[in-house]
Amino acid sequence: MTVQTITTQPFSDQKPGTSGLRKKVKVFEKPNYLENFVQCIFDTQRDREDAPLVLGGDGRYYNRQAIQIILRIAAANGCARVVLGQGGILSTPAASHLIRQHQARGGIILSASHNPGGPDEDFGIKFNTPNGGPAPEKVTEAIYRASLHINRYHTLDTPDIDLDCLGTASVGDMWVEIVDPVSAYADLMEQLFDFGQIRALFQSGFRMRFDAMHAVTGPYAREILEKRLGAPAGTVINGVPLEDFGHGHPDPNLVYAKELADYLFGADAPDFGAASDGDGDRNMVLGRHFFVTPSDSLAVILANAASAPGYRGRISGVARSMPTSQAADRVAAKLGLNCYETPTGWKFFGNLLDADKITLCGEESFGTGSDHVREKDGLWAVLFWLNILAARRQSVAEIVREHWRTYGRNYYTRHDYEAVDSDAANGLVDALRAKTVDLPGQKLGSYAVAYADDFRYLDPIDDSVSDKQGIRIGFQDGSRIVYRLSGTGTEGATLRVYVEAYEADQARHDLDTQQALAELIQIANDLAGIRERTGRNEPTVIT
Ligand code: G1P
Ligand code: ZN
Repeated sequence: MTVQTITTQPFSDQKPGTSGLRKKVKVFEKPNYLENFVQCIFDTQRDREDAPLVLGGDGRYYNRQAIQIILRIAAANGCARVVLGQGGILSTPAASHLIRQHQARGGIILSASHNPGGPDEDFGIKFNTPNGGPAPEKVTEAIYRASLHINRYHTLDTPDIDLDCLGTASVGDMWVEIVDPVSAYADLMEQLFDFGQIRALFQSGFRMRFDAMHAVTGPYAREILEKRLGAPAGTVINGVPLEDFGHGHPDPNLVYAKELADYLFGADAPDFGAASDGDGDRNMVLGRHFFVTPSDSLAVILANAASAPGYRGRISGVARSMPTSQAADRVAAKLGLNCYETPTGWKFFGNLLDADKITLCGEESFGTGSDHVREKDGLWAVLFWLNILAARRQSVAEIVREHWRTYGRNYYTRHDYEAVDSDAANGLVDALRAKTVDLPGQKLGSYAVAYADDFRYLDPIDDSVSDKQGIRIGFQDGSRIVYRLSGTGTEGATLRVYVEAYEADQARHDLDTQQALAELIQIANDLAGIRERTGRNEPTVIT
């Protein structure tokens, strides 16, 4: 088999600091585009070269073509073995698990997460390191630097392999082991949670609906919920993965998972509802007529960790991303655990998990997870909730309300301004940063500013520093306003404004969130001059 070396041009499309490449499919289809990025991975990631590479994606349009291209480049670069999900399918958490289980050299995951799929929509690729997690900045930097100088890539002139046939195939001298994408992951879940207790819950007539949004979790949810846990057939809806997610936007939130939300707030609502995103790492959890914010979800899971056999008595600590509400902090304080505050992005949890400083972690953006893998994990969070519900035999609303009675309630909202002019957005953040100097001690409305800064994270494990991770304004009563620009948006800039207020008084736990936060929201808008600078009168999305 002769290796072909193709001359190519440097490119600089990967935003420094992001964990991979996410672009329109049309961009990925340009000659040598995907090839360049993949070659940069092989040129820079030389650890454990004898170990296998894990490969798979969320099944979106271009997944299959990309897999064939990557297999040929891997073989031409001397990779000896690839573990590939059947049909090219692996959810992001399942890929993370396989990397760890096979002690792999890393993994290549194809997904644009919750972004729409299809010929005119998004595609993405990222490299996960041997710990199973998203590449840290030093790795993405190395790949980025390589992309600025690349002038050739290696490939083979071999036919496509059959991605759908379990077993072993070969590409040149490289073995490709095609594995069932679901079974190892489902086995892992069975070790962590009390499947017997959850099965008994379903047998007692408990009803749930899981919306897979025509994305990758369909087969995982069917196997785990309907087969292994005995939930009635039909519990999983939109369970067949489609290349364009059925024209949907596979993002589990109240806007895009509206069908599910309407059902859970309707007359015939079941006990429990949940959804996951394109690649299976996000989750939304609902009770009958009740929405659980991701920030509260992390806090409730932490407080009830002993319900799950895999977590009983072994929580070392917890972490949340900086904009996530401080609900988990209150539980951690009561349990005598450390609570770490990290910048937005799952990669910042990796070091803490590897060093066993934390067991659980989460982000306000519908991401929750633990040390079982090194990615956030949608179905895992759903199973954790099922385990808690099975152990406590109370409704979701009762559990969360009781939680608020014990710890107080952190009212929380996020306002997103999408596709804002980039210069206007940068100007807004720069001006805010300048203002932070004078804010401490000032009164804004009825709130006294305790501190204001642009969040700087010092990683306690490797001492690396990440600057400018979001403007935070903390008030004396524990309320906060946070502003940051999205790193994942693909059009212009997305401004995210996060607002949080703490309410200890149980008599005030049932207010409408936007009303409870109205004064702080007004302060946030005025302080940043959102209307004047962006021309927007209201957010694109309110969560
Ligand atoms: C968003 C979320 C962030 C999450 C990331 C990847 O990033 O806010 O919490 O880690 O997607 O799922 P952002 O667009 O805000 O940079
Ligand atoms: Zn995702």
